[in-house]
Amino acid sequence: VIQSHPLLSLAALLTIVFLICRFIRDSFKVDSLAQRHVLITGCDSGFGNFLAQQLDSKGIPVIAGCFSEKGAADLSALTSSKLKTLQLNVTDSASIKRAVEFVRAEVGQRGLWGLVNNAGISIPIGPIDWLKPEDFTKILDVNLLGVIDVTLHFLPLLKRVQGRVVNVASIFGRLSLAGGGYCPSKYGVEAFSDSLRRDMQPFGIKVSIIEPGFFKTAVTSSKMIEGDLKRLWDRLPQDVKDSYGTTYLQEYTEAQKLSLGILCSSDLSKVTNCMEHALTACYPRTRYGAGWDAKLLWIPLSYMPSFMADFVVKVLLPFPKSL
Ligand SMILES: NC(=O)c1ccc[n+]([C@@H]2O[C@H](COP(=O)([O-])OP(=O)(O)OC[C@H]3O[C@@H](n4cnc5c(N)ncnc54)[C@H](OP(=O)(O)O)[C@@H]3O)[C@@H](O)[C@H]2O)c1
Ligand SMILES: *[C@@H]1O[C@H](CO)[C@@H](O)[C@H](O)[C@H]1NC(C)=O
Repeated sequence: VIQSHPLLSLAALLTIVFLICRFIRDSFKVDSLAQRHVLITGCDSGFGNFLAQQLDSKGIPVIAGCFSEKGAADLSALTSSKLKTLQLNVTDSASIKRAVEFVRAEVGQRGLWGLVNNAGISIPIGPIDWLKPEDFTKILDVNLLGVIDVTLHFLPLLKRVQGRVVNVASIFGRLSLAGGGYCPSKYGVEAFSDSLRRDMQPFGIKVSIIEPGFFKTAVTSSKMIEGDLKRLWDRLPQDVKDSYGTTYLQEYTEAQKLSLGILCSSDLSKVTNCMEHALTACYPRTRYGAGWDAKLLWIPLSYMPSFMADFVVKVLLPFPKSL
């Protein structure tokens, strides 16, 4: 079929040429990676922890920001002596300032090559009328204002070497598939990263956005999300509970558990390989969709008319009983 249609053959040829050119462009690496320091936030678990170990095993000097002392000790035990840990709470400006001093002492005149804004939380998440304003603030403080505060503090050290910023957004920064502060925080990370990229381009700082699909980590733990949903439900006024019906909480948690079970991949390297590329390639991409679900389902869906995403949410979640 392709051979008999000149236009189709041309399109196929152009696609192949494009893919080959992109493959070649992607494969150029920056030199002397052993001299280029990378700071990662949220290294206690999940992507941050995996990335710290991955970069360390390749001889890249990692400064791993950990939320807890235990997280720092556990990571140290798994990595080389080249990797340094520090305690970093991204919602605490004093903690960020201490981190800047630590990193400055560590990198000296070389400056900071890479900053990976990875720390994030997902709870409380649930139907919007189950939430209070402070439930939104809690997530926005870590996932959005934390990213902004950390970035602003480290820009001077990044400018010195024309470094890289890698921000972890999500497909939830492209599609609002759940209520609460999580999606607004990730949409915010997308917007902040776009303006940061444009404003820092004259200074040679490159900014990449990672958009993972669903992966098995603490933020997608159905056990933790369920526990918190029960807390939200229990504190609801009776009239709101009545509007949903007595079986709604159970139906909702079951539906959520089922979809998380089907969707979540346990191969975290799909995400950390994108982060590594953003840090080590001569030509990092602006956006990385990580995981097949992100590439083939969620990101394409984000370009479709809104009613299609509305339909997906409708299929995935139960319907309140009063309707
Ligand atoms: N898993 C997914 O499917 C998925 C998809 C898209 C995007 N993401 C994003 O990926 C990033 C990493 O999450 P993950 O999936 O790897 O989950 P994770 O294992 O929970 O990692 C998040 C890390 O951030 C830390 N953290 C929480 N609050 C912090 C604070 N105030 N200051 C500094 N660190 C803090 C956590 O520490 P503790 O462990 O001590 O709480 C944890 O180590 C997040 O931004 C998340 O939104 C995840
Ligand atoms: C992180 O910082 C915030 C704001 O200063 C504070 O309320 C919170 O308790 C801190 N968390 C930890 C675990 O220290």
